[in-house]
Amino acid sequence: MQAPARIEREIAAAGGWISFARYMQLALHEPGVGYYASGARKFGRGGDFVTAPELGSLFGRTLARELGRFERLLEIGAGSGALADVLADGREYLILETSAELRSRQHRRLGNRVRHVEHLPAGFRGAVIANEVVDAMPVHLVHWTERGILERGVGPGLTWADRPAAGELMAAAEQIQVPVPYLSEIALAARAWMRTVAQTVEEGAIFIIDYGFPRREYYHPQRATGTLMCHYRHQAHADPFARPGTEDITAHVDFSALAEAAHDAGAEVLGYATQAQFLVNCGITEVLAEANVENALHYAPIAAEAQKLLSPAEMGELFKVLAVGKGTTSPLAGFTRGNRRASL
Ligand SMILES: C[S@@+](CC[C@H](N)C(=O)[O-])C[C@H]1O[C@@H](n2cnc3c(N)ncnc32)[C@H](O)[C@@H]1O
Repeated sequence: MQAPARIEREIAAAGGWISFARYMQLALHEPGVGYYASGARKFGRGGDFVTAPELGSLFGRTLARELGRFERLLEIGAGSGALADVLADGREYLILETSAELRSRQHRRLGNRVRHVEHLPAGFRGAVIANEVVDAMPVHLVHWTERGILERGVGPGLTWADRPAAGELMAAAEQIQVPVPYLSEIALAARAWMRTVAQTVEEGAIFIIDYGFPRREYYHPQRATGTLMCHYRHQAHADPFARPGTEDITAHVDFSALAEAAHDAGAEVLGYATQAQFLVNCGITEVLAEANVENALHYAPIAAEAQKLLSPAEMGELFKVLAVGKGTTSPLAGFTRGNRRASL
């Protein structure tokens, strides 16, 4: 069975309506039918999107300067294994990956340099890294209207259907002040995930790297139709019903919500910065300086990579790095200077 039929069956079984979060879970992650579960290429030039580790090794080598102090690394959602390929340097390197297809791809690429785990290991000590993982977690859709706060879900034939919001979603939606009508996402799954990870780490830091904003920008009056985006062969569009199961669906990350969830679970914010500021603080210019400037063939791709990672028009400002943790005493290098452009 393919994703559309699987989704229709579930909508019918549920009496004609499922939440958008459930739709996104099925379309992206359901074993056998979801986009991440399927054999689609996904990453890189021949796929649907390019992430920072897919650009080359500069991102990983710069991040390695921050991670050197940790005895053990745990990557969540490792994709094609590109970041692990740079960071797995003999230290214990664990990967927690929900997609069986990507787990086997990672295994083929990385062999016994990494070890896959099914769950977060209890009492983990070390660094946890999640690059572009939280944006792929299912979000609920909320429609603030003059008639009250509604939850936007999915009906038969993949159509939008609103019903009154309730429970945890309603409580979260009531905390957000927006001019009506206003449509946006609330990432209950990402908050729960953050609480679990923060609870499970006994000592160390959790780095969440993704595109997104603090709450005041996320729910800005002018962003009245939310941040849902789909990616298919390097084209971005906003219709999540176009190709369920064969394209990526994402939402930007509300970093304030993640920081609060981590705090609820006993972790503290260790730093928050734009990706550009973080990489500069970690010493990306020193890493660049190791490249052979005399050899244009060698240097030009690395310079282009740096430009993509750092430019405000590319990933530099939209992408943020949030680190939360427990029991880490000395400050992290990535947040030492000038975070004027990013505050939670
Ligand atoms: C957009 S890809 C990013 C991959 C890689 N980190 C990169 O930057 O290239 C999202 C990855 O997260 C995985 N994933 C999504 N939700 C997850 C979860 N809750 N736990 C673990 N992995 C997850 C996906 O299967 C995929 O490997």
